[in-house]
Parts: sequence; structure tokens; C-alpha cells
Amino acid sequence: MSAQAVSIPKLYGRDFVALEDFTPDELKGLLDYAIVIKQEKRNRRPHAYLQGKSVAMYFEKPSNRTRVSFEVGIYDLGAHPIYLRKEEINLGVRESIADTARTLSRYVDGIMIRTFAHTDVEELARWASVPVINGLTDLHHPCQVMADLLTFQEKFGSFSGKKLAYMGDGNNMANSLMIGCAQVGMDVTIITPSGFEPPKDVVAKAEAIGAKTGAAVAITHDIEAGVKGAHAVYTDVWASMGQEAEADARRNKFMGFTVDSKVMGWADPNAIVLHCLPAHRGEEIAPDTLETHADTIFEQAENRLHAQKAVMVATMADEAR
Ligand code: CP
Ligand code: NVA
Repeated sequence: MSAQAVSIPKLYGRDFVALEDFTPDELKGLLDYAIVIKQEKRNRRPHAYLQGKSVAMYFEKPSNRTRVSFEVGIYDLGAHPIYLRKEEINLGVRESIADTARTLSRYVDGIMIRTFAHTDVEELARWASVPVINGLTDLHHPCQVMADLLTFQEKFGSFSGKKLAYMGDGNNMANSLMIGCAQVGMDVTIITPSGFEPPKDVVAKAEAIGAKTGAAVAITHDIEAGVKGAHAVYTDVWASMGQEAEADARRNKFMGFTVDSKVMGWADPNAIVLHCLPAHRGEEIAPDTLETHADTIFEQAENRLHAQKAVMVATMADEAR
């Protein structure tokens, strides 16, 4: 696709809280635009669409990729990034979420937030008059999935007729992947140990979207059947941020749910391995499998930057009005 044919998606003022809030065309428009903005950075072409603006980033959990890719992305776009720690804002404790939202909206042009309860992000978005971007909650990680889909699109060119298999915990990644794959029309299978399936209401939402886009959504405990023919095999940590106390118990329950060369033998011969990172080698992924697929996995990490810049331009730039 030529860069000229792709224009800035017109999503001015919209929040980016969950992938189900967008139409398939809106998400595909963002992915196509992310490819353009990636090329612009590669070619060192100026793309300071947010010149003179400021974007706040609030973190209640640790981060490497989200923190750095947002800060660099905001800077690339000509805006000023403001990093806010829990100790400073203490969302919903020091003052109400509504008051934080309305105050920040008087200073900045967008708010990125990483926290625990998804409802906190929804409430922040409800009260903020500037776009709120979800940088991970216990329920969803939509920015990560935009980078994942971008990586898949770069490798395979299209989504229809393709399949992504996710192996591991039915967590925020599984949830956003189900919705994201269904939105772009790609089959998605979530393979978990018994008792770690994704929430039923999220599965139902993904199935309803898939019924319209032609994507099959499946949940299984059978690794071989689930991975069979997959074009991407995805995994994530067994214990998410906030579940550190459960890590040992989870290690026992997830035994055998390791993406390794045996598992990859069941996938499509050209299958890629995706991992949102951080990785726990020897748990959800075998060390040699990660290294064999490191180019893709770190391209996926890089794509956070480009996908999020596309989201910020589309929701905050004057050109997106
Ligand atoms: N994948 C991801 O969100 O990484 P961080 O937790 O390092 O931001
Ligand atoms: N499920 C993981 C994703 C990390 C990017 C977590 O929430 O910790």
C-alpha cells in the first residue's frame, strides 16, 4: 500500500480503552496508518502532528515497553510527555477519579494510563475531556494488540483465512487478542489449563464480533488441536502484574503450557511466535524458541511505538478532526 493512499484516521477526541469500541474499518485504518508513520520515522520525515501539545502517562504498575514507547512516541510527534507515578496521583485515593480527570484535561491533550481495575480507566475516560488511552489493565491491553496485529500484517499481508493461537493464561492479553483478532477477521484460539479460561462475557463479545467479520473464536484445553495450523502462536507470562503471590502455584498449574519446538511443529510451517514481553524463559516459552523467533518478537516490541503513535495522531492531532 502506498503511503499516499493512507490518510490519518479521523478519530479525533476518541478514547482508546478497549478494541471493541471501534469498528473493524477504524482498527484497520489505524494499522495501515501505523505502517505509514513507521516508514516516516525510518525515512526521518518530520511527523510532528502533536506539536505544542502535552500527553500525560500515569503508571500504577511497572513497565519497560509501554513507558518508553509512549514517551518516545510523544516526543517524536512533537508533544511533551509527562510521566506520573502512583505516588503522585494515587488515582481515586488522593482525590476522586472524576476530579483527576477534569484537572488533567485542563493541562494536557491526552492521558495514557496503566492500572489494575479496568473500570478506573473507564471512569477516567468518562470524566476526561481529552482522549484516554489504556496502557494495560487487568482486563485489557489494547495497545499491545495493535502492535501484535501490525506485526502479523507486516509478515502475512492480511488477516482473513489466518489463525492466531494464544497459549497460557486467560488474562488481559487473551481478552484483547480475542477481540482484536475477531475485529480484523482472523480466527483465534485460546488454549488454557482448566480453570484459567478467559471471562465468559469477553468470549461472548469476541464471538459476536467474529460472527460479523467471519472470524472463528475458540477456547480449548487441548494444545495440539488449538495450535494446529496456526499462523501465529502467542504466549504471555503465567502470573501477571499483581499476581506475584500466586506465581508458584500457577507454575504448577501451567506445567506443559510452554511454547517450544514441539508445539511449533503443530503450527503452520511459516508460523511466527509472538510474545508481548516480559518473557519468563523456561515457563511460558522455551529459551531456544524465543531466540529462534527473536527478530519477530522484538519487531513486535518496536511496533508498540508505531501503533501507539498512530492512535495518538488519530485521536489528538488537529489533522484528525
Ligand atoms: N508488553 C508490555 O506492555 O510491556 P511492559 O509491561 O514492559 O510495558
Ligand atoms: N499479562 C501481563 C501482560 C504484560 C505486558 C500482565 O498483565 O502483567
